[in-house]
Amino acid sequence: MAKLCLCLTAKTIQRNLEILSKYRKNTDLVELRVDCLDPDERLYIRRFPELAGLPVILTIRRDVDGGHFAGGEGARVKLLANGLAFANTDSRYNYAYVDIEDDFEVPSLEEAARTFGTKIIRSCHSLNGFIENIPKKLKSMQRSGDEIVKIAVAVKSANDVLQVLKASKKITAQNKILICMGHYGIYTRILADRFGSYLSYASALSESEVPGAPGQMDISELAELYRVQKITNKTKVYGLIGYPLKASVSPWFFNTVFSLENTDAVYVPFPTDSINDILEIAEGLDVNGLSITVPYKEAIIPKLQKSSDMVQSIGACNTISRTEEGWHGDNTDCGGFSESLLNFINRKNLKYLKTTIVGAGGVARSVASEIHRMGGKALILNRTVYKAKNIASKYNFKWGGLDNQGIELMSKYNDIIIQTSSVGMEGYEASDPLDLYSFSGDEVVMDLIYVPPVTPFLKRAMSAGCRTINGYDMVIRQACMQYAHFTGTEIPQKVLSQFNSMGANTWNKIRSA
Ligand code: ATR
Repeated sequence: MAKLCLCLTAKTIQRNLEILSKYRKNTDLVELRVDCLDPDERLYIRRFPELAGLPVILTIRRDVDGGHFAGGEGARVKLLANGLAFANTDSRYNYAYVDIEDDFEVPSLEEAARTFGTKIIRSCHSLNGFIENIPKKLKSMQRSGDEIVKIAVAVKSANDVLQVLKASKKITAQNKILICMGHYGIYTRILADRFGSYLSYASALSESEVPGAPGQMDISELAELYRVQKITNKTKVYGLIGYPLKASVSPWFFNTVFSLENTDAVYVPFPTDSINDILEIAEGLDVNGLSITVPYKEAIIPKLQKSSDMVQSIGACNTISRTEEGWHGDNTDCGGFSESLLNFINRKNLKYLKTTIVGAGGVARSVASEIHRMGGKALILNRTVYKAKNIASKYNFKWGGLDNQGIELMSKYNDIIIQTSSVGMEGYEASDPLDLYSFSGDEVVMDLIYVPPVTPFLKRAMSAGCRTINGYDMVIRQACMQYAHFTGTEIPQKVLSQFNSMGANTWNKIRSA
């Protein structure tokens, strides 16, 4: 079980204590980043452990290591000595830990720390270049058996994280902290226990003017959503692979459900640039199931040992579960989409209804297949026309471009319009892919995007008086189906009702906080 450490980076002692009092309930220990304090405030660090009332790490991070201490080494040693001086026989009044770098050579200071029970965290920060042989480095850093060895390395790919995971498995005897800084490494902060780390550092993101380190996550998110302090080697791990993974509702959905039903499980985002590396990482971390999102829904298929008929016929997979024979692929986008649409229009099928599908990517494949299965007819319009044709030909549907010619065809396919492209999604172009089309107000309009909740396309449809729905309902329905694939059971109805009563508004508030 990894401890959660609140990294305090305010300019004054008083402000740090205010932040700590707000987040104390989620905090096992704190790190006082003396380098972030105003110079005058640094004179008063000795009393901080007593004022904090929790174990404290004394850290004065140099600017070369990503900190803010720009003074000379002499001044830094003096400050560290001030922090450790006048040790009290009651250890609660002393710093519990002092962070000193691998190249720090002041034996008298280390001796003083050891004498009064202050543990040494021996750290190495690599901000601009990967450490080649991490196991060797970990071994060489440790000078005595009671030290905690810490490596924080900036990662630029999933492969960098894989090397760190391999190192953690090789060096099991040492007390250590392994952190992959940056977006590709966020899960090393959630699954700190699986990486063999003694603690995970977190910030109070809404309070701190200065972030503790690149990629450091919010303490409330780590403690309350991901329940990091409760993760052990028995915890079941699930997650989501894709890139960039910055606006997915799935971590909130799964972790809220696990917490409501009191299950020892966690769902983690795994941003990646390589399917092979992330699957090796998932196996190394003993991950049980993964959701797959953009841009890997098609690329994952050749990596699977088994896949459902639906995955094979559609050519898109969004759910993989680890079985004894290897990874098994399923598709829950299909079920989520049709359930959401049929429920919205209050029908059992799409017979006699004509539909336009906007876009011809991975999700459009699932949508087209379901419309066909439900007895509907469709026109597929896409910027790149041949992709629309590829999908449409499979089901005897019509196709066209997002141009005047394509729009003209819509006059016979406008009972329902389904927008599946990424246009309007947060992080993508905020425009309307169907701006050449004028809504009559009689169309049912579905946009599969849910971040933002109303895209320019959906807003225009609403203004014209159309009945509209965004992709939130679909994504939650498909996630319920994923839950069943992952765990072999349905979500208890009571838990689902509790979750649904929070509604999309709760998610939107959390997301934009
Ligand atoms: P997904 O798996 O979510 O469907 P995708 O496979 O990358 O994602 O597909 C994205 C869809 O959005 C495609 O239909 C794409 O059109 P192209 O096939 O022409 O690339 C569509 N799309 C993305 N940006 C677009 C834009 N600016 N204008 C119109 N369509 C766009």
